[in-house]
Amino acid sequence: METELIAILGLQWGDEGKGKVINALKNEYEIGVRFQGGANAGHTVYKGEDKIILHQIPSAILCTEKEALITCGCVLDLEALINEIEELKKRNINPEGRLFIDERTPLVFDFHKEEDVLENEKKGKIGTTGKGIGPAYRDLIDRKQIKIGEFKNKDFAYRKFKNLWNWASEVIGSRFGRPVKPLDEVFEKHFSLFEKIKDFLTDGIIFLKEKEKQGKRILFEGAQGALLDILLGTYPYVTSSHTITGGILLSTGVPPWRIRRIIGVMKCYTTRVGEGPFPTEEKSEIGEILREKGQEFGATTGRPRRCGWLDLPLLKYAIRITGTTELVITKLDVLSGFKKVKVCTEYELEGRKIEFPPALSDELYRVKPVYKEFEGFEPDEKDKNLRKFLDFIEKETGTKITYISASKGEEIKKVS
Ligand code: IMO
Ligand code: MG
Repeated sequence: METELIAILGLQWGDEGKGKVINALKNEYEIGVRFQGGANAGHTVYKGEDKIILHQIPSAILCTEKEALITCGCVLDLEALINEIEELKKRNINPEGRLFIDERTPLVFDFHKEEDVLENEKKGKIGTTGKGIGPAYRDLIDRKQIKIGEFKNKDFAYRKFKNLWNWASEVIGSRFGRPVKPLDEVFEKHFSLFEKIKDFLTDGIIFLKEKEKQGKRILFEGAQGALLDILLGTYPYVTSSHTITGGILLSTGVPPWRIRRIIGVMKCYTTRVGEGPFPTEEKSEIGEILREKGQEFGATTGRPRRCGWLDLPLLKYAIRITGTTELVITKLDVLSGFKKVKVCTEYELEGRKIEFPPALSDELYRVKPVYKEFEGFEPDEKDKNLRKFLDFIEKETGTKITYISASKGEEIKKVS
């Protein structure tokens, strides 16, 4: 019998609590896979009192009997990776023999981060995490990137790197009037970083094929969220990777029909870091309360997150583009204490009512949310008002809620 392959994806603009859900379902898989993004992600997991934030390594690494794979849909920051490995070792978690990196994975170099940060200071910025994600993916699409496995041949890697470095120094020089660090210095730095992690390299496509054959259960761990997808998100206020189920197929070679369980993680309200349209954003005291109660400050950059009510048009869209088969709703305790809780059920755009978001960000900026009010509730499944709130979401989205997360300190609970 074929094992079940599971995907856990964010349905909003990231920070939905994916890390917690992945950790809670630890009995349901043996191998965790990151298929997109890079050090822009911040997955917070609590092990008792200890708070661990993973950026590039799949959360599966925290369970010592599991294996973790970073695929070529990611862009890998070697310096950050080594720091992450050190952090794990400090906690007696040893990734050796359990962490694998697809040789095809492109890299993030210092000049990618430099360009990202400088670009962000310009007008019309996206508000990125400054981790070099956009420039690294651009160079991949532009066919200039270096695949990590290419470092195995130092001379070959140097020739390719020189080409990329020349390009980067032209871009940063002409656009920002700055020099980049000398070619040989940057190359040698990254080469010695590579030497430290080269034992983790593998062919990710064959690795997964073999594991599937052995009947291992695999979990694909999404980073960011559906609305940050490069193609179907709120462009240009998005990240540069494919955050949806399609992104798994692109970088793993796993056949589409093998992934039948797609768990969409959502908060019971909405947050966003960085720029871009956010119809239900509350700039008032309500937003402030959500931010404080929910501790909505970025795990990667520490920036305060923008906060607002749950947005059903965007949620329905995210469920559609991810193929979500079940929902997990997190942070219910953050809404307790509100007398009334609001949910946006549709938008008004130029006098028309619409229940799906418009295709373009420019239009999404102009929609007016129409709200339905719910009685306040406690984060307890037996609370009748909470049940009404959850039933409404299930009915509107046509998708079952399988787990809820009531508070930070507690495990997620199965919904009966
Ligand atoms: P996790 O995995 C929330 C946002 C940035 C910015 C946009 C582009 O923790 O949910 P980038 O650096 O990717 O080029 O920035 O995407 N962003 C995230 N927001 N959670 C994340 O990851 C994010 N990763 C990127 O704030 O608006
Ligand atoms: Mg995060």
